[in-house]
Amino acid sequence: MKARNRIVIGVPAFLLLIQFLGPEKSNPPIDPLRPVEAHLKVTSQVSALFERACQNCHSHKTEWPWYSNVAPVSWIVIDNVNLGRSHMNFSDWTTYDREEVIRLLTETCELVKTGEMPTRPYQWMHDESHLDEEDIRVICEWAEGEKTRLMEVE
Ligand code: HEC
Repeated sequence: MKARNRIVIGVPAFLLLIQFLGPEKSNPPIDPLRPVEAHLKVTSQVSALFERACQNCHSHKTEWPWYSNVAPVSWIVIDNVNLGRSHMNFSDWTTYDREEVIRLLTETCELVKTGEMPTRPYQWMHDESHLDEEDIRVICEWAEGEKTRLMEVE
């Protein structure tokens, strides 16, 4: 076979083959006793912000974009969601003890303030995830309030 023909056949065949490899997408079922709302007082305003900017990577309610179906891009997207969920999962909040919740609340305010969350590539791909100063103030005020409340509980 000529070199050019090998490429013409080989590249699409390779791309087709890799579609069957890599991590699997998942949206595990949510136990109603486990999400963050069952443990913290999440206001509707904060909940709307998390929905808009965080839940695709930090919950089981991920809305998968079309490119999450196309390897090798899908591998990056799926790995990122799995990593995000493993660090903080709004759909499985019972895994955290009080110390951990306090730490996550501190980090949440910190990371939205510095613009590290949502992650930059995510912000480029999702205009709606942008948080303005007011959004950040609302998230931080909520996080501080919940921390204070938790620290008062014996
Ligand atoms: C594109 C996916 C994605 C989005 C969207 C996203 N995160 Fe993350 N987040 C991650 C990943 C991945 C990590 C793991 C940290 C790292 O980069 O090592 C993380 C880590 C964190 C952590 C650190 C948890 C720890 O264990 O210290 C917090 C807190 C956090 N994110 C909050 C948020 C908040 C709040 C939002 C929305 C405003 C958000 N994230 C949006 C992917 C995301």
